[in-house]
Amino acid sequence: MTHSSNSEHVAVFGLGYVGCVTAACLAHLGHRVTGIDRDELKVRNVENGRAPFYEPGLEELVRDSVAGGRLTATMSHEDGLRDADIALLCVGTPSERNGNLGLGQLRHVISEIAGQLPGRTKPLIVAVRSTVFPGTCEEVVEPALRGHAGVTLVSNPEFLREGCAVRDFMEPSLVVAGGASRPSVERVAALYDALDVQPCLVSLRTAEMIKYACNAFHAVKVSFANEIGALCGQLEIDAGEVMNTLCQDVRLNISRAYLKPGFAFGGSCLPKDLRALNYRAGRMDLHLPMLSSVLRSNTEHLNRAIQAVLDIPASRIGVVGLAFKENTDDLRESPVVTLLEHLIGKGRDVRVYDPHIRLDSIYGSNRNFILAAIPHIGRLLDGSLEALLAWAGHLVVTQRLSAEMNAQVNASGIPVLDLAGSGAPAPTVSASSHG
Ligand SMILES: NC(=O)c1ccc[n+]([C@@H]2O[C@H](COP(=O)([O-])OP(=O)(O)OC[C@H]3O[C@@H](n4cnc5c(N)ncnc54)[C@H](O)[C@@H]3O)[C@@H](O)[C@H]2O)c1
Repeated sequence: MTHSSNSEHVAVFGLGYVGCVTAACLAHLGHRVTGIDRDELKVRNVENGRAPFYEPGLEELVRDSVAGGRLTATMSHEDGLRDADIALLCVGTPSERNGNLGLGQLRHVISEIAGQLPGRTKPLIVAVRSTVFPGTCEEVVEPALRGHAGVTLVSNPEFLREGCAVRDFMEPSLVVAGGASRPSVERVAALYDALDVQPCLVSLRTAEMIKYACNAFHAVKVSFANEIGALCGQLEIDAGEVMNTLCQDVRLNISRAYLKPGFAFGGSCLPKDLRALNYRAGRMDLHLPMLSSVLRSNTEHLNRAIQAVLDIPASRIGVVGLAFKENTDDLRESPVVTLLEHLIGKGRDVRVYDPHIRLDSIYGSNRNFILAAIPHIGRLLDGSLEALLAWAGHLVVTQRLSAEMNAQVNASGIPVLDLAGSGAPAPTVSASSHG
């Protein structure tokens, strides 16, 4: 057994899939754990050293931990909380009819805990492990605990998968703890010290959001693979071979690439190829709702950016970056062109600078494209960043800037709306240079 160096008294509220696995695994790591549930059967099972449901490896952990005196169970919130340093809330948050999250179990357990706090002298960290929408800890949990000295709040979402939950706990891919009190966040993260993982310490809302981002990402990945699979099926292509090969690319495909919130995508490939794929799928009567909504999603993102720029009160708007991403002079399907056309259409005074697109130095098809297809944009081009900075009352950055350009922009003191997510003051939208 791998024992944790800092053994804590932990009260685990809810002995369902998440709670029971968490309780048994933390006890296995050497913490003293009490599981609390309103379901008598679950409590009796754990008390008797049995897992209350089937999960590979759980029965042995519960049996050994109960026999070793590190795990007990009770229906009494009072008994469960008495010695606890940390209360881990693992109650259910099921869907309501309208899709919203049901917080009934959480509210109930919080009010039970709050009822135990008057007169308590021992500090308590309340850590929410249930999946809750960002803001729930601040808006629902914190007000119920407010006014009780020594009580702090942490979000510590769970990422285990049923069917391999014990292994996921013992070999975590991610441990996240977030909250306003750094010592409390560190103490919750230290529960997992014995495991081979570097915990991510974040803010309360970020911790809550990460869980949703992860689950949404998993769902999107499954649907993506299935839609590609369906298309492959129609085309008599081995879908497994396609996806396995896709996964071989760990630089662009299975990587951080394209996963940074930023500006809308554009360029000569992504929009064109998505259009062709959807058109050909449609011709085969194949409905691919996810793939066919990607361009609409991109347009929505561009519309948010356009609105954010239109909301700028300054009269002279300087746009930095005209191509769909940095380090190219390719203007095909650049979302910046659409952005500029909206600004022109609304009568805004706008100029643009791109280090790789200057009418005095650009040549070939790109120069012809500017002069023939978008002459109205060509007329807005400035020859240097200095000229743009000397003129603009507000800047809109659409690409990741070089260090030198970034320094010039910062030194200018001109307010910046950074659509590229490159670290300048954040707007309500962001996007990145994909294409
Ligand atoms: N199941 C998963 O794979 C999984 C993975 C990660 C996160 N989550 C999240 O973790 C949370 C728990 O999920 P679960 O699948 O373990 O739920 P579950 O329904 O299996 O377990 C919830 C437990 O809480 C108990 N409970 C409810 N109210 C209580 C109260 N007032 N006092 C004491 N006990 C109470 C219930 O009796 C039940 O045993 C949810 O928010 C879920 O979204 C689940």
